[in-house]
Amino acid sequence: MEYKNLLIETTGGITILTINRPQVLNALNSDVVMELECALFGLDMDESVKAVILTGAGEKAFVAGADIKEMSEISSFVAHEFARKGQRLMLLINKMRKPVIAAVNGYALGGGLELALACDFIYASEKAKFGFPEVGLGVIPGFGGTQNLSRLIGPNKANELVFSGRIISAAKALSWGIVNEVFAPEDLLPKALATAQEITAKGTLGVAYAKDAIINGINMSKEDGFRYEASLFSVLFATIDQREGMAAFLEKRPAEFTGK
Ligand code: CAA
Repeated sequence: MEYKNLLIETTGGITILTINRPQVLNALNSDVVMELECALFGLDMDESVKAVILTGAGEKAFVAGADIKEMSEISSFVAHEFARKGQRLMLLINKMRKPVIAAVNGYALGGGLELALACDFIYASEKAKFGFPEVGLGVIPGFGGTQNLSRLIGPNKANELVFSGRIISAAKALSWGIVNEVFAPEDLLPKALATAQEITAKGTLGVAYAKDAIINGINMSKEDGFRYEASLFSVLFATIDQREGMAAFLEKRPAEFTGK
């Protein structure tokens, strides 16, 4: 499929998916949301893809939010549909079997921060900036931001960021636990790629099941989460990767995982 707003490049099992509307700081209009959903669904189905890195085109922005021009004219009903489509995209990233790393190269505001928060973790450039400016536009985050941010950093810090509409630096986002690591701009993609390579060298089934356990377990009681973890743990004993991983350890050689 041809995408108007995305660049997709896969090398060695790792896909760099770049949102490519730099003239509007990669703002998410309904076409971009739809294209992202189609592309990510396809990448999840594609057996040659083992991890995805999501980033933004240009020097300035990861994504500066949902497209304000498009939103300025929509009805309440269309706004609801738009929010639900954006949220469906965020949930798709959670449901993907493959790890998705956000490489935030500049502004990650509103829907852009929501997109980054939906990824499995965030690496940021020193130039990155984060925030939820929505209250300054008379609305609130609508692509899952109030839910994902408060679950990640707790309600108090989320309240401060969302109520104030303040834009914070990468260093502050790091200290608040929004991003995992901050790099010089030129190191951001190489570091994201290096981590993706480290992950994809492991058993892809193990990584997929670990993602499932963490993402789904987080909303369960601890006891239910433990039970869920045990069920996923035991299912992996039906795989060739488990036999190979343990045999390789005992034979003191690198494992050759097949994802089966
Ligand atoms: N939607 C549409 N266009 C956008 C945009 C957005 N979110 N963000 C930037 N642009 C456009 C600007 O309108 C401008 O276009 P023109 O050249 O045609 O005027 C172009 O991108 C460059 O932007 P600026 O000239 O504003 O660049 P700057 O460096 O002066 O400022 C900025 C950068 C601080 C990020 C500023 O662009 C900005 O505040 N953008 C809006 C951020 C925002 O409010 N995001 C939240 C949107 S609401 C949302 O996301 C809801 C949700 O949860 C689903």
